[in-house]
Amino acid sequence: MGEEGDVGLGHDVELGEIDLADSRKFVDHVPHEWFSELRRNAPVWWHPGTSTSDGFWCVTGYQDCVAVNRDWERFSSYRGGALFHDMEPEALEQQRLMMLNMDPTMHTRYRRLVNRGFTPKMVRDLEAGIVGYADAIIDAVCERGSADFVEEIAAELPLLVIAEILGIPVEDRRMVFDWSNRMIGSEDPEYQVSETAAAEAAMAVYAYADELSSTKRASPGADVVSALLEAEVEGERLDQLEIDLFFLLLIVAGNETTRNLMSGAMTAFFEHPDQWHRLLGDRSLLPTAVEEMLRYVTPVMHFRRTATQDCLIGDQAVSAGDKVVFWHISANRDDTVFDNPDLFDVGRDPNPHIAFGGGGPHFCLGANLARMEIKVMFDRLLTRIPDIHLDGEVQRLRSNFINGTKHLPVAFEPSAPLAR
Ligand code: HEM
Repeated sequence: MGEEGDVGLGHDVELGEIDLADSRKFVDHVPHEWFSELRRNAPVWWHPGTSTSDGFWCVTGYQDCVAVNRDWERFSSYRGGALFHDMEPEALEQQRLMMLNMDPTMHTRYRRLVNRGFTPKMVRDLEAGIVGYADAIIDAVCERGSADFVEEIAAELPLLVIAEILGIPVEDRRMVFDWSNRMIGSEDPEYQVSETAAAEAAMAVYAYADELSSTKRASPGADVVSALLEAEVEGERLDQLEIDLFFLLLIVAGNETTRNLMSGAMTAFFEHPDQWHRLLGDRSLLPTAVEEMLRYVTPVMHFRRTATQDCLIGDQAVSAGDKVVFWHISANRDDTVFDNPDLFDVGRDPNPHIAFGGGGPHFCLGANLARMEIKVMFDRLLTRIPDIHLDGEVQRLRSNFINGTKHLPVAFEPSAPLAR
């Protein structure tokens, strides 16, 4: 894996060699040298079509990414969906029932339904439980003195938390985690599997959501699935497909993102041990450290929109119907906004990163929750296994969407589990 701090210079990059549609180009490291070249010389660039994608606009500067993200009237999530790959009309039609692929005002109505489950109060109420989960996760590996940080530490916490919010019984959680992996890592040979297998995983999630809904209808709980079953949009209950798609969005959005943030941040600490020691010496830096982890790692690297009319992005004219991809991962290294953007600095302040989106209507629903999970997990790691270090090879995910890590072998001084 490359040293990210060393690659942001991009002096000898040619535009012609840039291929951001090719997920293989993200395996060794995020191609920051390409983003840096684009921000400098072609901040709104027409990415030519490749064997895997038609052409699209690539928006890489901070201000332009924020503008596209906020201007939902001109840059629609509904027209072509919010994800990179174009879909067949039938698939698109179905995906449009998911909030991520809606525009206001439809989006606003759906968003209201789930907002209630993710308020700051609800996150505060979950804090004690999250501390308990984090300690239990560390208890499971601490005597051994080694772990795969991704699978045994980072993946566990978001899974437990979202499962609790959705009311998924403990015994089913592993299964749901495997489906979620297969759907999102679908370009990575380790999880894939073919397009068919990814579709099968999605079908399994729907079938599971159907079953869970029947259980919750019979005996509702204080969970989000029970709330969705009761909820109405314009006087009508959500139908089963809408419930299924909500369920799928929530498990995918809450799991992969937070897991890869934690794994990417742990790797950043291994590359910058001085920053780990800074935190060990001064825990009051945790809140700024969490924001810096989010900026530096940026687990969701881009989202897609479709232009609804001929218009400008910056000085660049784009046409109605064009596909527009804006890269949070690039905006978060824009040196017109962040001093020394390639530096990992746990005390960075201000830090107006857009890892959760640029303030548009789709701004991450789970931002408060994710921040809490990250803060708690790193606090417990710093306290309980402060000498954690890399013990093998970092294996990154093959994806141009999620800045992901598949395996991160770590070692530390063995210790006893907490007495309970
Ligand atoms: C480090 C962790 C996370 C990151 C980096 C992240 C990032 C994002 C981003 C970039 C968006 C799109 C924002 C936009 O287009 O304006 C988004 C949307 C969303 N996120 Fe997160 N997310 C994280 C954790 C979570 C968690 C824990 C949940 C919990 C369920 C969650 C649920 C969602 C949902 C449901 C949406 C769609 C919102 C909508 O369409 O209105 N995310 N997230």
